[in-house]
Amino acid sequence: MKSVRTWFAVIATAFALWGMPAVAADAGADGVDRHGMENDMPIPEGEEVLATGKDRYSARCSYCHTPLGRGGSSGVCLACQKYKWGSRSSQIYATIAAGRPQTKMGAFATSLSQEEILNIIAYIRSLQELKIQDDLKAAKAQ
Ligand code: HEC
Repeated sequence: MKSVRTWFAVIATAFALWGMPAVAADAGADGVDRHGMENDMPIPEGEEVLATGKDRYSARCSYCHTPLGRGGSSGVCLACQKYKWGSRSSQIYATIAAGRPQTKMGAFATSLSQEEILNIIAYIRSLQELKIQDDLKAAKAQ
């Protein structure tokens, strides 16, 4: 009865893998991984902050990164949890301020104030949360 044993092994492995992310991931109350939203420098909060952040993001970033920050033809996904250059607030700040040489990501330190950059980061955090909520809804609908 080799096939029964093989199936048992497949199912046991599937269960082991299924259980793993929930244990290993840095999960929030809803079980969602938010490791890509860690702030190691204070990010301002509030409606006004988000409104300014959205305004600046729309004017300077969305044509590459798309309005919801989910990636596009020339900009990477900012609403995702995985960042190439680091997703902690200080790392995002550095990317925006100094740019990333040899890529299309330019430096904004001379054209955006420190406050504007912080407001944009606050807005990026809200885009990450929005994507989480949309993904949860999509998973439920299936
Ligand atoms: C001309 C297109 C363009 C514009 C405008 C632009 N970006 Fe980018 N951005 C890119 C590209 C392309 C990358 C990927 C760079 C690379 O290959 O590493 C990037 C990377 C980034 C990253 C790093 C992502 C990671 O995975 O680490 C952040 C954060 C970011 N951009 C934020 C912004 C913000 C905020 C603005 C507006 C102030 C902005 N970008 C404007 C094209 C753009």
